[in-house]
Amino acid sequence: MATGPVPFVKWAGGKAQLLNVLVKCVPKKFETYCEPFLGGGALFFRLYSEGMIKKAILSDANKDLINCYIAIRDNEEALLTELEILQQHSNHKDFFYEVARPKFNKIRLKTGMEGDPPKAALLVYLNKTCYNGLYRVNSDGVFNVPWGRNNNPRIYDEDNIRAVGKALRDRRVKVICCDYSSVLTKVGVNDFVYFDPPYQPLSMTSSFTSYTPDPFGEDDQKRLASMFMELDKEGSFVLMSNSVNPLIEELYNDYIEGGNYLKVMAARQISCKGDGRGRIYEYVFFNHHPG
Ligand SMILES: C[S@@+](CC[C@H](N)C(=O)[O-])C[C@H]1O[C@@H](n2cnc3c(N)ncnc32)[C@H](O)[C@@H]1O
Repeated sequence: MATGPVPFVKWAGGKAQLLNVLVKCVPKKFETYCEPFLGGGALFFRLYSEGMIKKAILSDANKDLINCYIAIRDNEEALLTELEILQQHSNHKDFFYEVARPKFNKIRLKTGMEGDPPKAALLVYLNKTCYNGLYRVNSDGVFNVPWGRNNNPRIYDEDNIRAVGKALRDRRVKVICCDYSSVLTKVGVNDFVYFDPPYQPLSMTSSFTSYTPDPFGEDDQKRLASMFMELDKEGSFVLMSNSVNPLIEELYNDYIEGGNYLKVMAARQISCKGDGRGRIYEYVFFNHHPG
């Protein structure tokens, strides 16, 4: 049975589990959809499947991730061949450490975002087999997330890769690798921007914010909040996910006081210990009436 596309990676902080809440916060009508912290793109794929996208600008600062989107779009067959081979190693810890991770690190330093199929396939493999779908590179640019004890992860998912490829080849959809601030010059009145940045850490010790070599810190959260408010004033529809945290409460105080927010429960990894999974509250801020 043909289904709509869904995220092809299990990205840390992914929004698949909150989609039913988020779709209720989407304006009924909008022009361009913009998602500048794309990750797995859970909300984009849902809206695309529901026929709500007229035009889309999708971007993320992670070059390896964007290389994957480009490989799916431009080199689908070669990528599927690579994924089919890697599927045979879905439960092989030795292959992860001795072959996949070193090979990925070797290619990633030599290639960019040309849609390289082996690099893209290895990223999907590592993402599905590593610890919690994390993406983390050290200061030498080496991906160093450990094996994750996932049981039979699905690496080769032909139907979904083809559905994603079809969506990405839609001429109305653009995929870009850039800092979130550069896409914001491309949006205006009645466009809709969904921001899902790396969260402000819940505490000093639970600091996972690095999906890219440049961590997303307090100054970035402040810069992002000013942009959110500027777009709001200029007449764009804006929606933001973020953590429940004193800095975030201070930055979005007007939205909290105005009732333009939801507090939603999500299952998240909340510490680096294996058993550190829990249900926590997250914020959703918006400037329009949820549908
Ligand atoms: C919470 S994840 C997004 C998850 C996504 N909504 C999903 O459903 O999978 C945050 C994303 O922001 C990206 N990112 C981090 N810093 C960025 C920056 N300065 N500009 C653009 N993207 C950035 C990361 O690479 C990561 O993919």
